Amino acid sequence: MSAPATEPPKTESGRFKAGLEDVVAGTSSICLVDGIEGKLLYRGYDIVDLAENSTFAEVAYLLWYGRLPSKSEFEVFQKEFRGSIELPEQTSMILRLFPRAATPMEVLRTAISSLGHYDPDSGNTSQEACLRKANRLTARIGSIISAHERLRQGLEPIQPIAGQSIAFNFLYTLTGNKPQAILEKIFDICLILHADHELNASTFAARVTAATMSDMYSSVTSAVGALKGPLHGGANEQVMKMLLEIGDVSKAEAWVINALKNKVKIPGFGHRVYKTEDPRATVLRKYAEQLGKHVGNTKWYDISRIVEKTMFDYNEREAKKIYPNVDFYSASVYHCMGIPTVLFTLIFAMSRITGWTAHILEQWANNRLIRPRAEYTGPLGLRYASIETR
Ligand SMILES: CC(C)(COP(=O)(O)OP(=O)(O)OC[C@H]1O[C@@H](n2cnc3c(N)ncnc32)[C@H](O)[C@@H]1OP(=O)(O)O)[C@@H](O)C(=O)NCCC(=O)NCCS
Repeated sequence: MSAPATEPPKTESGRFKAGLEDVVAGTSSICLVDGIEGKLLYRGYDIVDLAENSTFAEVAYLLWYGRLPSKSEFEVFQKEFRGSIELPEQTSMILRLFPRAATPMEVLRTAISSLGHYDPDSGNTSQEACLRKANRLTARIGSIISAHERLRQGLEPIQPIAGQSIAFNFLYTLTGNKPQAILEKIFDICLILHADHELNASTFAARVTAATMSDMYSSVTSAVGALKGPLHGGANEQVMKMLLEIGDVSKAEAWVINALKNKVKIPGFGHRVYKTEDPRATVLRKYAEQLGKHVGNTKWYDISRIVEKTMFDYNEREAKKIYPNVDFYSASVYHCMGIPTVLFTLIFAMSRITGWTAHILEQWANNRLIRPRAEYTGPLGLRYASIETR
């Protein structure tokens, strides 16, 4: 007996775009990415201006509250922000239980999820409680990263110093040395630059989870899972691996030409949205040079410059538009600060958590379940046959 002919479901055929490229999936007043002009604004402020003049804590306030704080508002906010940095004892204990083979990003995912169990506001869905949760999550993520890294190295975690910035305490609890002011400042700028980037994959994942009216910890855990993938958060680590493999300024040009000949993509270049230089790369180039000079090792910056020049010449020859992105110069900056390469993606999470939580709050302010359609391409009208007759 032939299967009955069934009409395929009426999907909007022809309107599907792989990877949702250029699809506008919602409105947002948090972040503007102008890929043509090479501009990035948070709540209307140019990131170049914020990087020069603001701090990560103030940018977190800006993203969550939609405006810059007054002096008194910021004092209250900063006290709470800096005061939330210590991990619940149970989360500190969990960090000791992971298998040695667990990658830091996998550990971060599980540890973030665990924080939800010990948050006194866990079941409170009011706007005020959600802001407190965003605050605690942002303050604690660096503590998770540094504590686990020390355990991985066979060292005991270090307690953060009360009243210090997130940047200071991250570098301090990671290395055991109080960072020089210039290192704290440049790391803080890196956190500002990575804080938000519209509907990137991890932020979209966070909003999809939030839109089901799940909780903030589940939404951020979804985002960490999405960021972990090498097509999203992993590029800065790949840049450092490339710089280490090149190893010397004299080898940089030939290395890049050879890679391009073999159709290998150069990590830290290209972007889905920017058709010109990523403005974050422009800021980071300056600090990569400054930091290299400060620590007396400009080798990684110098190699980066040759890689960039070789890509520039290639673009001219091939009429292509492949510019450095945020990951390119952040690699040598983190390396010069003594941060292990395996942590680079986690630093991205440490900053982007402000954007994730701002988007979750924005989603809840005007929520509608995110539930797109798929264009069905499978078979139709099949009839079930018992297992004996198949
Ligand atoms: C970011 C990225 C995924 C964007 O991808 P995309 O928008 O899908 O663009 P495509 O991969 O289709 O690239 C378009 C063209 O530029 C080339 N190109 C893009 N990025 C390149 C790179 N980093 N090195 C060399 N060539 C590159 C592609 O080979 C392609 O050339 P073709 O048209 O001759 O085939 C891509 O540029 C990339 O893989 N970059 C390296 C990884 C990275 O730095 N990621 C972090 C992004 S913030």
